[in-house]
Amino acid sequence: MASEKLNEALNMQLKEELKSAYLYWAMAADFEAKNQKGFAGWFKAQAGEEMIHVMKIYGFLYERLSKAELPALEKPQASWSSPLEAFEAALKHEKFITGCIHSLYKQAKDLGDYAGEVFLQWFVNEQVEEEANADEVVQKLQTLGNQPMALYLLDKELGARKPPFSLQG
Ligand code: FEO
Repeated sequence: MASEKLNEALNMQLKEELKSAYLYWAMAADFEAKNQKGFAGWFKAQAGEEMIHVMKIYGFLYERLSKAELPALEKPQASWSSPLEAFEAALKHEKFITGCIHSLYKQAKDLGDYAGEVFLQWFVNEQVEEEANADEVVQKLQTLGNQPMALYLLDKELGARKPPFSLQG
């Protein structure tokens, strides 16, 4: 049976996913301003992924005959000193989100909310990919250091990442 307690916790996670989208959008905006369009594109695609996470939780709440609460969001950080600093912050953030998902999953299990448990399994797996994606770029940036040509090529490479949906009309 759908637990009201889990619905409340899912609403809190909805806020975390929105904050994730907002954070990555802020990173994209910073790279855009610095004319590093590839890094910006990577973070725009990531912000799109986060909106998919938001909408999955949103939809699930209504399937459970509950209601989504849309929260107020704080202004995110506006600039990062280097691509490495931004991607390290993104990886740290994903690790935090993994912790949130794991505690939600445990809560669903403890409450005997089987539908919630199955739903959250998708997020458990998704977080493995989310951390791996950010970690891959952190490792590349650590290897390349601050060499302008290497950063130029990596910016180009990351720009190939496709967004999960188009925001163009
Ligand atoms: Fe929705 Fe990147 O975790």
